Amino acid sequence: MDFCNITIEYIKEEDIDAVLKIERSSFSTPWSREMFFCELTDHPFSYLYVAKNNKGRILGYICYWLVFDEMNILNLAVDEEFRQKGLGSALLKFVLEDGADRGAQTVHLEVRHSNRAAIELYEKFGFRQAAVRKNYYENPEEDALLMALDDISVYRRKERCLKAG
Ligand SMILES: CC(C)(COP(=O)(O)OP(=O)(O)OC[C@H]1O[C@@H](n2cnc3c(N)ncnc32)[C@H](O)[C@@H]1OP(=O)(O)O)[C@@H](O)C(=O)NCCC(=O)NCCS
Repeated sequence: MDFCNITIEYIKEEDIDAVLKIERSSFSTPWSREMFFCELTDHPFSYLYVAKNNKGRILGYICYWLVFDEMNILNLAVDEEFRQKGLGSALLKFVLEDGADRGAQTVHLEVRHSNRAAIELYEKFGFRQAAVRKNYYENPEEDALLMALDDISVYRRKERCLKAG
């Protein structure tokens, strides 16, 4: 994937339809339109970014909350057609830099115990498995791994090919 043709920018209301399409094909209990809208409008500590190609197509998105110096990644998905090309990594790197710039020091997230792709991705970025939350997910019921990145400071924003919108 040519990352010089990918832009990561803050979500706009008109992006929600495309994001919902990816969300519904990625998760068994997807976020609703209202949930995305709420992140966009109601939460001053919420940051929701989309990755677009040079034709304006949304290829993936990521959402995090920053409360004081603690960042929590709530959602991340890449359009199935564009997976395993580095975009999930690019989105994660972008928000780790963004969060570090805004004063985050630690990062947490939950992931399904069986979600090998996501767990491997997070481990590549230095996340460790910090705890298990029993029966955290439904449909199907499953434990969550709580993953933690204890020191985000290595992710200070540097020069990169991706353009921030
Ligand atoms: C998890 C997800 C975001 C990864 O996005 P992606 O663009 O495919 O990720 P990348 O191409 O950047 O891959 C980075 C690393 O993740 C791991 N990975 C990605 N897909 C994988 C797969 N199918 N199986 C095993 N490892 C995988 C690999 O370690 C990979 O590194 P490598 O390319 O050197 O092997 C994507 O699979 C997805 O949208 N899944 C559905 C939604 C989801 O589960 N979100 C996470 C919720 S916690």
